[in-house]
Amino acid sequence: MALYELIFGLSVLALAVTVSQRTRYWAKMVSYFIIMQLVSLVMLPMALMCPKDPRNFLYGARLINLSNIIFRIDWKLNGRDNVKDKAYIIVANHQSSIDVLGMMMAWDVFHPVVPTMKSALKYALPFGLYGYLSGSVFIDRGSERGRKALERGLEEAKKMKKSMWIFPEGTRNHTEEKLLPFKKGAFHMAVQAQIPILPVVFSDYSNFYDRDGQRFDSGKASVTVLPEISTEGLTSADVAELCEKTRNLMIEQYVKTAPTGRKCT
Ligand SMILES: *[C@@H]1O[C@H](CO)[C@@H](O)[C@H](O)[C@H]1NC(C)=O
Ligand SMILES: *[C@@H]1O[C@H](CO)[C@@H](O)[C@H](O)[C@H]1NC(C)=O
Repeated sequence: MALYELIFGLSVLALAVTVSQRTRYWAKMVSYFIIMQLVSLVMLPMALMCPKDPRNFLYGARLINLSNIIFRIDWKLNGRDNVKDKAYIIVANHQSSIDVLGMMMAWDVFHPVVPTMKSALKYALPFGLYGYLSGSVFIDRGSERGRKALERGLEEAKKMKKSMWIFPEGTRNHTEEKLLPFKKGAFHMAVQAQIPILPVVFSDYSNFYDRDGQRFDSGKASVTVLPEISTEGLTSADVAELCEKTRNLMIEQYVKTAPTGRKCT
């Protein structure tokens, strides 16, 4: 099958480039981009047959999951038992594109899920079209239209017992800060719809990945599902506290995953 041949070819490229750290970084990043677009393209006919079906994403996730062989990331999923058979507002930290690999690795555990994406991604063809056909909700942060789209998505998700995946940090920001302040939209929605929050924490990748230093080695990473946080009986007056509580729990977990032996005190 052509796809496997291409993935194999790319992996040879990525693995063969051991000469320079920077070349390896770029080979992997380019492979990443190609794989995302290629899987989207391959999945399009199927997604067109059943538009808005979250299973479209599940099958794509299984393909993308194979690419961890190329990137040589050894993923571990913690807290799988914290995912029960109900709708959640899943909130996750967002550090880099690598998160998507971890997300895809664990996708069958969270399925069915409606991901939310930045509006701009809609135009990143064929990925955007695939996202659309898989039922993603595209949001313009801070805009009225974005809020409406989220609310519509939520209603549908609740009705169909689907979870909704949100990165509450909003845009990625490559700074020293562990987790950026959270946007409160996800928490408002959870309270409004009385759906529990399910925090998901991607580990610190700094021992194998560094965007500024252009390093992307092989390494171990984890996705940790924390116990759900109930929103039962909460009102909009409690949203700020709920948001802060969730963020603090996530930071606490994130800090635990930081590579040890680097601190000098
Ligand atoms: C991805 O691969 C891992 C390890 O091989 C497996 O445990 C997991 O279920 C896979 N995820 C998907 C969505 O196929
Ligand atoms: C990213 O973080 C820096 C420092 O905290 C801040 O000045 C900047 O406005 C942030 N950018 C975005 C897009 O959030």
